[in-house]
Amino acid sequence: DDQKAGLDLFYGKADCSSCHSGQLLSDQKFHALMLPHFGPGKTRQWDPIVRDVGRMGASDRLEDAYKFRTPALRNVALTAPYGHNGAYADLEAMVRHHLNPRAAFEAWSADHAVLPEVPWLAKADFLAFQDTRERERLSARADIDTIALTDREVTQVVAFLDALTGTESIKGHLGIPESVPSGLEVPK
Ligand code: HEC
Repeated sequence: DDQKAGLDLFYGKADCSSCHSGQLLSDQKFHALMLPHFGPGKTRQWDPIVRDVGRMGASDRLEDAYKFRTPALRNVALTAPYGHNGAYADLEAMVRHHLNPRAAFEAWSADHAVLPEVPWLAKADFLAFQDTRERERLSARADIDTIALTDREVTQVVAFLDALTGTESIKGHLGIPESVPSGLEVPK
């Protein structure tokens, strides 16, 4: 019952399907969700600081700043941590981030990231996250609306995500596909 209620929310009130659409639950497009940034990202050689600018790093178009491709959600319960950089250790936290990105960003701290102990990297990992101007730039680009769900509804959405776990695909027997929905080249 919870899984079904979660499905209705996903395709209805919670509006997840405006981006997570189609068979893979991805529109294959790029959106800026204001995920807390850390680590080296894909910093370009002329960037003055370590930055995680998303698609802009590849396209060099300002309108792509901090946008990342909507990930497919099949088997998502098995692939923690979440977000392009693993900012959230569990599904519920990742879902809650979507509902109010700014509040989640403000509440986030480095201990949410599941990182190996590497003391000499740890200091640089969070420099951009602490940088006021970089935080403002990231925040100015967020393009997702806030949505109010009750705790019960969040649990139901997570139950729906859990229900996207396959029985065959997780055994890894499907092989390398001929093509992928993004149209990117498949390395063989
Ligand atoms: C505006 C488009 C958009 C909407 C609406 C949206 N998402 Fe997302 N979602 C994304 C993008 C983009 C990412 C990746 C963000 C990143 O890594 O920076 C993502 C990431 C995720 C992830 C993490 C997947 C992984 O493998 O790391 C989950 C889970 C998820 N979304 C579930 C949801 C749910 C549930 C909803 C509805 C409450 C929702 N999304 C609404 C665009 C969207």
